Order: sequence, then C-alpha cells, then structure tokens
Amino acid sequence: MRQKIVAGNWKCNTNVQEGVELAKAVDSIVAEKGADDVTVVLGVPFTHLTSVVDAVNIDRINVSSQNCAAEAKGAYTGEVSVNMVKSTGATHVILGHSERREYYGETSEILNKKLALALEAGLTPIYCCGEALEIREAGTHNEFVVKQLEETIFQLSADDFKKIVIAYEPIWAIGTGVTASSDQAQDMHANLRSAIAAKFGEEIAEETSILYGGSCNPKNASELFANKDVDGGLIGGASLKAEDFIEIINAY
Ligand code: PGA
Repeated sequence: MRQKIVAGNWKCNTNVQEGVELAKAVDSIVAEKGADDVTVVLGVPFTHLTSVVDAVNIDRINVSSQNCAAEAKGAYTGEVSVNMVKSTGATHVILGHSERREYYGETSEILNKKLALALEAGLTPIYCCGEALEIREAGTHNEFVVKQLEETIFQLSADDFKKIVIAYEPIWAIGTGVTASSDQAQDMHANLRSAIAAKFGEEIAEETSILYGGSCNPKNASELFANKDVDGGLIGGASLKAEDFIEIINAY
C-alpha cells in the first residue's frame, strides 16, 4: 500500500542526549496530536539509534539510520553494517543521499551493494535521488533522475522494489531555503512514477511512496503534499525542531 511518510533526516546534528530529547518530544507530540495515517520516521546518527529506539514508542515512531556499510561484516574499520543497524530496532535506512554521493563518493555500484544488504536484513531503504542546479537549468533533470533509478533500484526484482521508498531531493533545494515549487515537485514525481510503471507495471507504480525533500518546512509542506504524486517528505533542517516537524507531519 502506498504510504504517506514524513521522515526526518537529522544529518550530523545533535549529540546522543539532545537526540533522545528531540525524539521524545516528537514522540509525545505525535501521541498527543496524532499523525493520522502518516508513517513517521526519524533518521538519526548511528550513535543515537539504540537510545532513540528505546526512548520512543516504536509503534508510533520508526527509526532509521542515514547510511550503512557496503559490506556485510569483516575488516572494515569504522563501518556500520546493516545487521548492526537492524539489531538496534531501527527499521529504515536512508541510502544515496546527495551529500553522501557528493562528499563520500557513493556511486550507483556502491549503492547497489548497500541496497541488497539492507533488503536482505529486512530494513526499508529510503532511496534518495535528485539533480544539481546545472542539470535543472539545462532542462535534463527528468532523464537524469530516471537514470539514477535505472542504475540502482530498477535493477531490483519487482518484489524487492516494492519494499523501497523513494525520496526526490533536488540538490539545489537542500538546505538552501529554495524549495521546489509545488508544480516542479509534482512534475518530477509524476515522471518517476511513470518510469516505475514502464519498468514494473502500473500497480507497483501506484503503490510506491515518493517523498519530496529540500527545504520543506511547516509553511510549504501542505502545498507540496497536496500533489497527487507527492507522498510525504524527507525533512532535514526542519526535523531538528519537534514543533516544526510535527507541523509538517500534520500538513496532510
Ligand atoms: P533540508 O534537507 O530539509 O534541510 O533542505 C533535506 C535533506 O537533505 O534530506
């Protein structure tokens, strides 16, 4: 079933104690105000996973890592495997964020290894895609983003693809305060959904959740989420304040 999802991406922010406080605040406001039929996910640093899982009611709040190792285990100093993430009680893993592609050299090949491991471990990948400003200005953004999918999640079996959540995040909108307009978001989401339909069929395309990310905030969330192909958001900056995050959750 196509789910409405609002996922926070805390990036490299908060220490463990601050993160636990933030997670508890989100959890208690969700408990109080409700989140209707929205799946709420908190994408937290690795160090916070266990404490955040323990601090929230996991029937209300899903916890996600923001990355995972490309190998299952072994001599990879400093890496965190899918098994480790899963054993904390986390349910999701954000993969392919543009910051990881750009600053840490994550290629489609690396992402395919991570996707396979995450799926095998039973984690739900939140797969990020999106174009840089030059590509948007050149007018080739639709083809570019579909190609990102073709090189990665379109290589999966239909059964595995069904477990993926997609987050479209135009790089020019991330952390810049410049959000994609409602029309730009809808156009890209419709483009992705039709590429999914061509690859896996209408039914699977209809069931795939496609989130928007990039300067989404309490002011613009309802307009973005009102689009028929926008199924929620991946929220960076605004997920660091419980009140803002809950307003976005309640923007539906
Ligand atoms: P932003 O980040 O909401 O701060 O723009 C979104 C993201 O990078 O996931």
